[in-house]
Amino acid sequence: MSHRPDLIVSDINAYLESQEEKGMLRFITCGSVDDGKSTLIGRLLWDSKLIFEDQMAALEADSKRIGTQNGAVDYALLLDGLQAEREQGITIDVAYRFFSTEKRKFIVADTPGHEQYTRNMITGASTAHVAVILIDARKGVLTQTRRHSFLVSLVGIRHVVLAINKMDLVGFDASRFHAIREEYVAFSTGLGLNDITAIPISALQGDNVLLHSGHTPWYNGPTLMEYLETVNIVDETAAQPFRMPVQWINRPDLDFRGFCGTIASGHVKPGDSLMVAASGTMSRVARIVTMDGDLGEAQAGQSITLTLEDEVDISRGDLLVDPRARPEQADQFEAHLVWMHEERLLPGRRYLLKCCASTVTAQISTLKYKINVNTLKHEPAKTLELNEVGVCNLALGKAIAADPYRLNRTTGGFILMDRFTNATVGAGMIDFPLRRATNIHWQAQQVTRELRSELMGQHPCVIWLTGLSGSGKSTIADALELKLSALGKHTMLLDGDNIRHGLNKDLGFTDADRVENIRRIGEVAKLMTDAGLIVITAFISPYCAERDMVRQLLPEGDFIEVYLNTSLEECERRDVKGLYKKARLGQLPNFTGISAPYEPPASAELVIDTASTGVEHAVESILQLLNVPA
Ligand code: ADX
Repeated sequence: MSHRPDLIVSDINAYLESQEEKGMLRFITCGSVDDGKSTLIGRLLWDSKLIFEDQMAALEADSKRIGTQNGAVDYALLLDGLQAEREQGITIDVAYRFFSTEKRKFIVADTPGHEQYTRNMITGASTAHVAVILIDARKGVLTQTRRHSFLVSLVGIRHVVLAINKMDLVGFDASRFHAIREEYVAFSTGLGLNDITAIPISALQGDNVLLHSGHTPWYNGPTLMEYLETVNIVDETAAQPFRMPVQWINRPDLDFRGFCGTIASGHVKPGDSLMVAASGTMSRVARIVTMDGDLGEAQAGQSITLTLEDEVDISRGDLLVDPRARPEQADQFEAHLVWMHEERLLPGRRYLLKCCASTVTAQISTLKYKINVNTLKHEPAKTLELNEVGVCNLALGKAIAADPYRLNRTTGGFILMDRFTNATVGAGMIDFPLRRATNIHWQAQQVTRELRSELMGQHPCVIWLTGLSGSGKSTIADALELKLSALGKHTMLLDGDNIRHGLNKDLGFTDADRVENIRRIGEVAKLMTDAGLIVITAFISPYCAERDMVRQLLPEGDFIEVYLNTSLEECERRDVKGLYKKARLGQLPNFTGISAPYEPPASAELVIDTASTGVEHAVESILQLLNVPA
């Protein structure tokens, strides 16, 4: 059953070759240490003899010393050692372990089973073909079993092994086994998990792990290892329509132009018609080039270079597809989203979305609901915290080609990243493109923003005042508008407190609401500049990301950020509305400067400290910046 260590010694090349040709199965184990997960993985590693000799000797010694198995080898110790290592880590860690038998190579992703490790489980499961869900035969289907199964279905794993463990502790009772299996099947078909194989095992004693157990004569199915060695996974992605994201373009000289990438699904051969998903341009495959010469055919999983018969405009990030089964091309999608960062999701904030080889900006335009991973109930939500799962609509900065995740895990899966740090903040699965996205087109208008601005005789812009509550934004904004009107300018003042009485009446002061507040104000300010107006805004606008977003909405130079850097002490001393006092007494949660953050601009067009600068002087410096004679 194990691989052949003798070959490593006698003929290393033959050994490596035999390893190379074997298929690779990736699987994930779901369960907790109590379910016997460590023992099971430890046993698989041990029995496949891919544990180093010194590790084995240490394990035997440790088992005698601290093991729980009366001196016999305690396989769980093997894992616990690695687990301790892992617990010291601060980033997401999924322990991937490699082992092999004569038939296959395996990578097992081992993630902790508790709810606070949902993101680890998603990470480990996202590339797995099979999930081994462990159940303690004494306890049966538990809340955590349901959670694990939901997450497994969410990431599109199609094959589930229900490893009903600790059968020795229930006397290898067949009726117990069947009852658990039936309960599980009834529940999991609702999740779309259809290929379920239940196996009665004892990880500790080895029953039905590698070899058939003499204790379960009533069980005719495969052992766990037999299952893992034979489950058919190769055909699935190969049977889907052809998709290959172009990772880079190889152009060593003028005569050769090759498109390199890993085939995400389907297969391809010279002569096949291909289409560039975004542009719809067609061509045919001329050659499939690899390091080892040209291929007559290639399929999902292979890394290749394609040359085409025509000179086609293709760039990095384009998706090459089968023209008979095109992916969706849209800039809005509904998706399931798993939040993976300590900083919660802020709908309205711009993130980066990476799908296949393309990266675009993306906002959560609507968070429809979150899913309680234990009860699977839908709950209303304004945000997603770390490890929470929700369903949302996404609006992208640019259309991308993608498939629903249930049809294609590669072209339907995406990650969200922070725009500044590039940290992964979420992982998502596309459900479908939104119709509204495909049926709405930009309407050309005959009266342009240039014409409106000409008629008004002014250059529209946004003067964006930002700073703490009480820093003087409203006062300066008001005086500035009065001055500009006196000079015959057409203006509009948008003030935080006022807008919150109308347009933004539904928003409070959580970070998510503030992001949405500024997103709306940004869009409104932009429309007003389209109308030709000089717009003055007075909002705390505490986050760089959103101020930056508004800046991006406008032509360069038309967003003038004025930072009132008046100190917290000074603002608190003024306390015009008595809000600081309330905040200090704990009667006003999320108060900027006290219990909510303020991120100062790194490069504002103008910085004014109103503790030392009077209103008139402040207005004058803004007018100077605008090039308007006072
Ligand atoms: S922002 O952060 O979303 O930009 P905005 O400028 O619209 O805030 O509103 C700030 C005004 O709301 C403050 O000037 C203050 O009068 C009032 N306010 C009420 N509660 C809070 C709070 N928790 N934090 C800050 N301002 C608050």
